Amino acid sequence: MSRTPTTSAEPARREQWTGQYGFILAAIGSAVGLGNIWRFPGVAYTNGGGAFLIPYLVALLTAGIPILLLDYSLGHRFRGSAPTVFRRINKNFEVLGWLQVLISFVIITYYAVILAWALRYTFYSVTEAWGDDPMGFFVGDFLQVGDPAMNADVVPGIFWPLVGLWVVAAIIMALGITSGLERANRVFMPVLLVIFLTLVVRALFLPGAADGLNEFFTPNWQALGDPQVWIAAYSQIFFSLSVAFGIMLTYSSYLKRRSNLVPTGLVTGFANSSFEILAGFGVFATLGFLAHKSNVAVGELEGITGPILSFVTFPSVISMMPGGPIFGVIFFASLSLAGFTSLISLLQVVSAAMQEKFGLNRRLAALLSCGITGVLSVILFSTTNGLNALDVVDKFINEIGIVSSAILMTLLVSYAAKKLPELLKHLNHYSTLPVGKWWYAMIGGLAPAVLSVIFVATVYSLVTEGYGGYPESFIYQFGWTMLLLVVIASFTLSVIPWKVKPDDFDPVDYHEDGASAPKA
Ligand code: ALA
Repeated sequence: MSRTPTTSAEPARREQWTGQYGFILAAIGSAVGLGNIWRFPGVAYTNGGGAFLIPYLVALLTAGIPILLLDYSLGHRFRGSAPTVFRRINKNFEVLGWLQVLISFVIITYYAVILAWALRYTFYSVTEAWGDDPMGFFVGDFLQVGDPAMNADVVPGIFWPLVGLWVVAAIIMALGITSGLERANRVFMPVLLVIFLTLVVRALFLPGAADGLNEFFTPNWQALGDPQVWIAAYSQIFFSLSVAFGIMLTYSSYLKRRSNLVPTGLVTGFANSSFEILAGFGVFATLGFLAHKSNVAVGELEGITGPILSFVTFPSVISMMPGGPIFGVIFFASLSLAGFTSLISLLQVVSAAMQEKFGLNRRLAALLSCGITGVLSVILFSTTNGLNALDVVDKFINEIGIVSSAILMTLLVSYAAKKLPELLKHLNHYSTLPVGKWWYAMIGGLAPAVLSVIFVATVYSLVTEGYGGYPESFIYQFGWTMLLLVVIASFTLSVIPWKVKPDDFDPVDYHEDGASAPKA
């Protein structure tokens, strides 16, 4: 393989996926996660059922896919972690890169905890350890939830699975892109697909399944007039597609130059949504069975959203079903596998940024990124207060953090840096499927406009109504203060000097694998 010399700031050999297939698996592995299995079905149901598919598709086509392509083009053209990429565009934009790293950092700290629950429940399913009171077991015996007035003791039942998870994650991160992340996805993703399909097919044959699906898909058209439903659709798409918080940008920076960006993006986007809709089928078929057994209408069931759906309602169903333990093991193993491949993608955002900014080697960066987020995940979320804290952090980081990052990214790239023509040329040079000028309209117009309205509406509602009935001080602590810390940390990190400045990088001159670079 012949290489032309690189600039001094560019490491001679940046790690790379072995090829298109490895990258696609990793990108789908990142996208398909807890967001698909435990978030989507509940969010869709409470926001209009079948009618939710309309805002969902609008969000996917107007923001999800266009921003996914923006992430791909940025990572692939400027070849770096988020701070490196934005700094290479304009030195003052480095802070946006750190904002994305910090958003991933915060998500990791609670994401890992939900994974630890799922892991623990995979084993609990074997004996149906929750007995005849899944709610009492989850909240009381397992999480030992306390008063949200901050009595935060570490719960051993969460602590140990979490430690195990962090050790495995750190090993995979230390092994790097090809031997660690790609290999993990090559093993886990096909297994996930097979076991999840088995689960859904089994669910579809349960008595009452059709009623569940009917309830799920029956459209409530009035919901379309409610701004909250649109907010839910856009936040679901961003979280689920892993866009606008550094993941797809970082992952695409490890693609070989000779790649096919647009089709890869479309495959990732549609695979993620298909998985999400499949999860909707599986979950609601199962809820139909629960309603049938309990002799109530599906609409009268409680606990159809959030952690309660997975960790209370599903265990109830498992206990009622012939072969329940097998169903339970498959369900929680799917949740664990899907979540784990997303967790390592989030960690790569942090690890890559540390490697580049502080000149750390991969192993040290892996150790530090897993160590720091790991300790915080234990202190903050594996406690008697974990469930409440996690709920508030998840709400704020998604609906304010990710949305602000998407607005800033689209506006800065489009108007301050005026990079859209260059990025479009890049996308089309490295794609068999060209993107048209409509992309400008989405990135430079529609997406930031809709997201700004969503941002204002969310902040207004949080300020005036609070959230989830939590005490104001609790919302301040885990919501507003957490966001403030993220912003302060982003600015602080952006002014720390680089070990090796990444500035003298010229994407036009940068060649690799014999591929030619498009002249911007
Ligand atoms: N995209 C990941 C998920 O859906 C973060 O869970």
